[in-house]
Amino acid sequence: MTNAQKNRSHEPSVEIYRQDFPALQQTVSGHPLVYLDSASSAQQPASVIEAVAEYQRNDHSNVHRGVHTLSHRATEAYEGARDKIQGFINAASRNEIIHTSGTTESINLVAQSYCRPLLSAGDKILTTELEHHSNIVPWQLVCEQTGAELLVLPIDDRGQLNLDEFDDLLTDDVRFAAIGHVSNALGTINPVKKIVEKAHALDIPVLVDGAQGVPHMQIDVQDLGCDFYAFSGHKMFGPTGTGVLYGREELFDAMPPWQGGGDMILEVSFDKTIYNELPYKFEAGTPNISGVVGLAAAIDYLQAIGMRNIAAYEQDLHDYMVAELKQVAGMRLIGEARHKASVQSFLLDDIHSHDLGTILDHQGVAIRTGHHCAMPVMQHFGISGTSRASLAFYNNRDDVDRLIAALGKAKEIFG
Ligand SMILES: Cc1ncc(COP(=O)(O)O)c(C=O)c1O
Repeated sequence: MTNAQKNRSHEPSVEIYRQDFPALQQTVSGHPLVYLDSASSAQQPASVIEAVAEYQRNDHSNVHRGVHTLSHRATEAYEGARDKIQGFINAASRNEIIHTSGTTESINLVAQSYCRPLLSAGDKILTTELEHHSNIVPWQLVCEQTGAELLVLPIDDRGQLNLDEFDDLLTDDVRFAAIGHVSNALGTINPVKKIVEKAHALDIPVLVDGAQGVPHMQIDVQDLGCDFYAFSGHKMFGPTGTGVLYGREELFDAMPPWQGGGDMILEVSFDKTIYNELPYKFEAGTPNISGVVGLAAAIDYLQAIGMRNIAAYEQDLHDYMVAELKQVAGMRLIGEARHKASVQSFLLDDIHSHDLGTILDHQGVAIRTGHHCAMPVMQHFGISGTSRASLAFYNNRDDVDRLIAALGKAKEIFG
């Protein structure tokens, strides 16, 4: 049993949970690791690592196709994970949960299968200046393919969407909107429920990129009202190469398959191929079964702590981190939205962010540096990149203090 499960229904007890994460127990450059890069990829608890290993040791087979025991077990684990994900985000049906390799694949699926057949020259897709490249480039591709145009909702200098302009951009020729839930570069939490309401008033479907939403807050897709919601396993303490596309069943029903191959068909002949029913229609080929088993274990882990507890704890820690960063002379915070989650980007004096990241690494502090796959955000602020510290529920105030001390050391070195 993990410490999270033992502690069920209590406030996050971070010191105990940290013990569940083997990677956090190591030293880097002779210092205990301070991991402040969970927005890139979160660490995995031992229960996730063990669930994958256990599956590999005992149950590994292929899904949906065998009559033998191992194939049954693999299928049960894989389909059980689908049910778990459905409950975790409160989808109305298991047919609304598609296993993918991650947010990127989920968004490309919607771009190609939902949007491409719908669009023609002159139509518009609306996205924002705040997005990760995964929520920009798939739309640029489909625009090139169809002659549609990409509209961009700008941000203000705090890193918040300019919602007044949103109303102006929402015209009759907008066919689709793709909006991030939480910005990976700035931490801004967007008011997606309100955005969905406004878009739906004009019959415009909305995809929400939830890659940075799911790890930090309770997600209820029915309450948000969105049409699609995409996220990645590795940012929510699960394995890489796993992810989810949630979509409303009636939309999925009407969409053609995206990729063809095994498992997504009922019958194949050279005259006519009949596609499988939902959700299998969108899952061609052998999936990442062991990864999905790990993803289910990650959900168990998170649910034992409770997403609301995690959100409250992280908000407090984020506020502490921002207050401490503000005390550092020469600090410029990038992204100061009113509503934020777990991420802070910054620049220190005129130290290049890669140099800063390297000096911090020598003190055992892991941060991310660069453009964070959000170049338009960097362009907005007229910079090439930032240093970014991102938090998870396994971080604590000592981690923040170590970050601040390491920044002090960097200032000394750069004199
Ligand atoms: C907001 C956001 N969207 C999409 C992605 C892409 O996720 P993945 O690489 O797991 O597909 C990321 C990854 O950093 C992200 O932060």
